[in-house]
Amino acid sequence: MVDKKITTRIDSLREEINSHNYSYYVLDNPDVPDSEYDRLLNELSNIEQQYPELITPDSPTQRVGATPLDSFSEVQHEVLMLSLGNAFSEQDMSDFDRRVREAVEKENIEYAAEPKLDGLAISLLYEKGLLVRAATRGDGRTGEDVTLNIRTIDAIPLKLRGKDYPKLIEVRGEVVMPKSGFDKLNRQQLEKGEKPFVNPRNAAAGSLRQLDPGVTATRPLSFYSYGIGLIEGMTLPNKHSEMMEKLKSWGMRINPESQVVKGQKGCNAYYEKLAEKRNDLPDEIDGIVYKVDDIKFQNILGFVSRAPRWAIARKFPAQEEMTTLLDIDIQVGRTGALTPVARLEPVFVGGVTVSNATLHNQDEIDRLDVRAGDTVIVRRAGDVIPQIVSVVKSKRKGKPRRFYLPNTCPVCGSETARFEDEAVTFCTGGLYCEAQRKEAIKHFASRRAMNVDGLGDKLVEQLVDEGLIHTIADLYNLDLEQLIKLERSGEKSAKNLLASLEKSKKTTLSRFVFSLGIHSIGETTAQTLANHFLSLENIMNADEEKLLAVPDVGPIVAENLMTFFKQTHNIEVVEQLISVGIHWPKIVKKSQDELPLAGKIFVVTGTLESMGRNEAKAALQNLGAKVSGSVSKKTDYVVVGENPGSKATKAEGLGISILDEKEFIKMLSQ
Ligand code: IVH
Repeated sequence: MVDKKITTRIDSLREEINSHNYSYYVLDNPDVPDSEYDRLLNELSNIEQQYPELITPDSPTQRVGATPLDSFSEVQHEVLMLSLGNAFSEQDMSDFDRRVREAVEKENIEYAAEPKLDGLAISLLYEKGLLVRAATRGDGRTGEDVTLNIRTIDAIPLKLRGKDYPKLIEVRGEVVMPKSGFDKLNRQQLEKGEKPFVNPRNAAAGSLRQLDPGVTATRPLSFYSYGIGLIEGMTLPNKHSEMMEKLKSWGMRINPESQVVKGQKGCNAYYEKLAEKRNDLPDEIDGIVYKVDDIKFQNILGFVSRAPRWAIARKFPAQEEMTTLLDIDIQVGRTGALTPVARLEPVFVGGVTVSNATLHNQDEIDRLDVRAGDTVIVRRAGDVIPQIVSVVKSKRKGKPRRFYLPNTCPVCGSETARFEDEAVTFCTGGLYCEAQRKEAIKHFASRRAMNVDGLGDKLVEQLVDEGLIHTIADLYNLDLEQLIKLERSGEKSAKNLLASLEKSKKTTLSRFVFSLGIHSIGETTAQTLANHFLSLENIMNADEEKLLAVPDVGPIVAENLMTFFKQTHNIEVVEQLISVGIHWPKIVKKSQDELPLAGKIFVVTGTLESMGRNEAKAALQNLGAKVSGSVSKKTDYVVVGENPGSKATKAEGLGISILDEKEFIKMLSQ
């Protein structure tokens, strides 16, 4: 005999776990943290292991059965599982409402409005409150027995709550995969090198079709009930909405968006509200289902073929459609990134006609394995830009070639490059590439580059649009007459601009190198390069070995520099700039101890606004300082940024000079 205490504990654990499940899924209001829930489940499972004779099929530990099936057996639906008629417009809705009003001879009909969930229909049979069978819809008459798989879904109670449930009830509803779970599952699929699912509905269906319930148990499935089939031992309530409340009290999950609305007006308002919310809802929905709420009216209306005349599904515009991908074009962005764009046979999707979709980068093209001429599924959800979801491989004709981003820029012909671990392929044309021209010129003229006063972004755009400048070198060939002719440009500002262009010709080597806008060459790297190589010629001619020998120059910087100076047009632009008179003082190599901060030891702590930690370090080293990671008596200066750590306090204690960011920058510029 088992101790009475044990059976009581088991009962109370089961009751408590079921009640937490109810709060979580049905009330949407979790009352304990996951850890507490897991603790209870663990305790129950441990006791059950000691007393296996006390395990019951409805115990919350018994969701995942042991043995996989060979096949699913058939289930006959005693009450047919029906489908719904569709409405695609307000006109269709008003026709439906009129038919209802005429049949029941009443105005202002009350409708139970519910989201039309995009999952799959399931029938759950509860006998004396216990889940005894779960079946798919199949053809409406014959479905498949998926009881073992359905039992693994936590949102579906194995046992109904309370006492007033009928002795037999068939609950019907939709098994769904929430969007968040779908995204996570697809990430895992990709990591495992397996194919991602096309959409949450397919993922939910695929998960329920597993012969091994152990697999289904790992899938993030959920469930909402929306109706009943068989029922014995109870008189039905008068309204659908009341029946839903009953189901809820027995522990069945009802969609929280469900609402009773009045007349066609109410239906339309509900439709608009949900259409607006659609993308923010946790589950994929493809429309609204309206059901005449009064059961008496439902009985008057009856059925036509396989759909009730008392319900209708108003569909949202489809968010996914199939079309042909005509070709893949390449766009070069203002930063030089090459973006492949799919040109599509125009298709109406998500409420608009779509003829282009971004393919992002080479990785995305490889992932989809998309090729010219393919049939593709296009998705446009809400305001999100259209995406290619997948390729319908079965429709591929012949053997189209794989697509690769080109080795040369389609706009300027410069080489393209892509770094390991980075998704973007970019044009190395920089200054020269028409697509990047405006950005390149803005950068060149900016305060920390050539510091051309009076050359704002708007003016640069105007100059380029009017065809007055093609390269940065052209800036120095502008004349007063051309500038005055430009809109909004007075004589005075034109003269000022010419003067500041003239003034900018006197610069430093590091500013000049920085102003060329070479990928990954920031101010500090430019400074390091100038100090190390002393002349522009040396920088331009440095090979990989020489570049990598420079402190702080890694393979990416080295490759960017070499690619840039390999392009003839870049060399031409540099030569033009020199020939218009850009010059800088010769750098005389100072020995390490002649540098201004020679021998000084610095520590940098906290976040600096104007530069990264590494940049600050390199700038200090350029001036001969040593940078240390910890404060000691030997430290000369501690540079303190935002949110400094204990180092700042320690420095104060030791009486070491502390520099804030302003003072630090001042010191660097001296
Ligand atoms: S009621 C007699 N309500 O839509 C009414 N169905 O096109 C039968 N569905 O097979 C269904 N959300 O899988 C109903 N709130 C909802 C629904 C819903 C999704 C699905 C269900 C059904 C299909 C009918």
